[in-house]
Amino acid sequence: MPVGAFEQRGVVLSTRFILDCDTGSDDAVAIFAAVGHPDLELVAVTTVNGNVALDHVVANTLGALDHVGARVPVYAGADRPFIRPDLPIPREVLNRDSDFQMAGLGFPEAASAVETGTAADFLVGAYLDDAYADVTLVATGPLTNVAVALASEPRLAERIPRLVVMGGAHGNGNVTAAAEFNFWADPEAAQAVLSAGVREVVIVPLDATHSAPLTDADCDAFERIGTPAARGAATLIRHRLDHDQATAERAAPVHDPLCVAYLARPDVVTERVRAFVSVETMGDRTVGELVVDTRPWCPEPPNATVALRASADVYRDFLETALGAG
Ligand code: BDR
Ligand code: CA
Repeated sequence: MPVGAFEQRGVVLSTRFILDCDTGSDDAVAIFAAVGHPDLELVAVTTVNGNVALDHVVANTLGALDHVGARVPVYAGADRPFIRPDLPIPREVLNRDSDFQMAGLGFPEAASAVETGTAADFLVGAYLDDAYADVTLVATGPLTNVAVALASEPRLAERIPRLVVMGGAHGNGNVTAAAEFNFWADPEAAQAVLSAGVREVVIVPLDATHSAPLTDADCDAFERIGTPAARGAATLIRHRLDHDQATAERAAPVHDPLCVAYLARPDVVTERVRAFVSVETMGDRTVGELVVDTRPWCPEPPNATVALRASADVYRDFLETALGAG
């Protein structure tokens, strides 16, 4: 039986999931992998303001799905954070000196369109429906849609079987020394979601994504695979390699698909910790910081599993399978 699938009465079933994302180049690679991997079924995509403004996120998401010929329902979500009127630093100021975040990812204008209804309404309706009882929610953008859905229907905390989140950092952040982008962009949403009592929460922070970076050699391999998904991923990842300043050699974290990899290949996470986690919402220098309380005497019970390291080999293997199929 493939790792990540589960067996029921002798039948191997796919892992079904909803992707809540802010496409965004690594979100697009996550979409390609989600559509292509034989053990996964992407049920729906919900979109949120984040890497770029919501209208660009929606266009990029539809374009990414069209690029690989996938017909998956897409819902438009929040166009601003849960409580704040804007990101802690407006996007135009944050990205002023960098063209790392591309508003448009270069896909042709999408032939497909969004569904009617908001992302949060879709999430509420889906998770109140027993037909979605096995569907994991994967969030690779700011947690605004999930926070709105949980605020309007608190029973969702018991109804969502598993929430896998790309966000936070146990070590240094990327927007600030303390904070990673997704949690920084909507810290109140992140804190609301992590404190909501969702049954199983897995956080994939920068510690994990930076431990399994991808390289030019990986892009070469994806180009050789030659599918639209693999060639598209190679182009997007090369853009990240061109702009990554974290390492002298060309190796860059490709954050969001690691959450999708975790569904099919849980062995991609090689080190983890169960802990009580929360998100700082107020500090001048620490807003958006993920606080992972690993003290043995922490008074709160653990509310999440935090991935600390990942295997680049398993990640590559997952991506080559996922991108090779579509
Ligand atoms: C996260 O922020 C976004 O820029 C990426 O898409 C990823 O979800 C990494 O900090
Ligand atoms: Ca993202």
